[in-house]
Amino acid sequence: MNEELEKEIKKRRTFAIISHPDAGKTTLTEKLLLYGGAIHLAGSIKSRKTQRHAVSDWMEIEKQRGISVTSSVLQFDYGGCRINILDTPGHQDFSEDTYRTLMAVDSAVMVLDAAKGVEAQTKKLFKVCSDRHIPIFTFINKLDRYGKAPIDLMDELENVLGIRSYPMNWPVGSDGRYRGIYDRQTKKVELFEADTTHGQKARASTQYDVDSPELRAALDEETYGALIDDIELLDEAGETFDKERIDRGELTPMFFGSAMTNFGVQNFLEEYLRLAPSPSPRSSSDGLIQPDDEKFSAFVFKIQANMNPAHRDRLAFIRIVSGKFERNMTVWHEQEKKAIKLAQPQQFLAQDRQIIDTAYPGDIVGLFDPGVFGIGDTLCDERQKFRFADFPVFPPEKFARVSAHDTMKRKQFIKGIEQLTQEGAIQLFVQPGAGSESYIVGTVGTLQFEVLEYRLKNEYGVDIDMVMQPFEVARWLAYKDGREVTPASLHGADRGMFVYDRKENPVLLVSNEWALGWIMDNNPDLELYNVPLDKKEA
Ligand code: G4P
Repeated sequence: MNEELEKEIKKRRTFAIISHPDAGKTTLTEKLLLYGGAIHLAGSIKSRKTQRHAVSDWMEIEKQRGISVTSSVLQFDYGGCRINILDTPGHQDFSEDTYRTLMAVDSAVMVLDAAKGVEAQTKKLFKVCSDRHIPIFTFINKLDRYGKAPIDLMDELENVLGIRSYPMNWPVGSDGRYRGIYDRQTKKVELFEADTTHGQKARASTQYDVDSPELRAALDEETYGALIDDIELLDEAGETFDKERIDRGELTPMFFGSAMTNFGVQNFLEEYLRLAPSPSPRSSSDGLIQPDDEKFSAFVFKIQANMNPAHRDRLAFIRIVSGKFERNMTVWHEQEKKAIKLAQPQQFLAQDRQIIDTAYPGDIVGLFDPGVFGIGDTLCDERQKFRFADFPVFPPEKFARVSAHDTMKRKQFIKGIEQLTQEGAIQLFVQPGAGSESYIVGTVGTLQFEVLEYRLKNEYGVDIDMVMQPFEVARWLAYKDGREVTPASLHGADRGMFVYDRKENPVLLVSNEWALGWIMDNNPDLELYNVPLDKKEA
């Protein structure tokens, strides 16, 4: 056993915060950094609405729209743990990028607005996490305002998401005027002083044993009585604490607090770190890869170019699965089938990049990418070559014809389009004979077109013309006997648009399932796939 590796693995907690926009993800992230000592005054991440942005927001568009378009990584230490928070895009259009980020975490924190409960985006993100059976921790936020009753929120989790909850703590006081929280494990009540710093600094509090005369004196009789009744009810009628069910994602530990007023944040952080899993094994073509395997391995889950105008470069983000990462080490790149040297690896706290020398399982490292990495690629030790399970590809549902407004800018246009395709933000198709004058771009959601337009202009200086196409379904085509599918061989090719993907596979774009049915009926020897064939086989 490698003791150093074991120790480092045990320390690591890698997670994402998932929530519906506005539930308080950014605020909670910031407060975790505040309690973790990574920042000294809250508000440095997200200031007032007018300048609303997180330090983790790299793109201008995010600032303008107040949404998080790209994922980022924050790392800090607290209580002997090394914490990696992966930011997930909050907008529903970005499900694909979010999905990839959630593949790189070991647990998730689900933030709910106490007044709104489970919202649309919460449901989608929850599903991705529960499909992976990773532990999910629930933080009920905005307790400083009126909201739903804690018991009703527990019911909502069960009825809407199908997960039972175990409250780790419980708010003390009445709705909208909670004064503190009761910790069910230590049986102590923490009462908070008034917030005098507008949430900029940690909030002062005093702890009491739940049955102490001091607590009785500090609370009025009704509040104290209600607390004791609630505790009894939870203990008798609630779920029992079951760590194994938590680990399997079947029971969610629930916490109450207010990120804005620093209420319950520290308690949450400490309990979360105690219960959350350290880096987990991942499946590969060579079976499960354990983090304490001394042979290094990692996978690429995100690629992004031009994150910072001061560094015009492209980064591939890898999640380390096993072994120790060392600067300048040589690893095997399975997809390219060649050995590569990992120079200038970077880690992040907000916009400060640091060159790092070592990293361990659970850590996220940004690698300079000269254009060799793809999403889902495996890096491993030359002595044991394998491939991590593939990332799913989402079929595009929106399509547009895109060309450079100024034909003199065609070169930059192609460069930018190619780049965004490699990042996995868009999928690229060409019509037979159309060349690179114009492309057909496919995306999962419409916001990606705005990002495409914005990034081509800002990063490549290209204005584009974009015409939305009336298609919603893409199907990759193959004949059962293996002969080539061409526009001429396909009956009814003109009922949709016949295009080729980047690897020159034939694809048909049609407007709906009905049109697809017609094609199938009239081409009996045709097979249709909703993802490229090579992805299907992998
Ligand atoms: P998000 O990243 O999940 O989208 O949410 P974010 O943290 O940006 O919070 C959304 C809004 O909710 C912000 O208000 C934020 O201040 C507020 N908020 C977050 N936590 C709490 C809380 O515990 N209590 C209350 N009352 N509000 C909270 P905003 O008005 O949109 O922006 P700002 O002017 O406060 O920056």
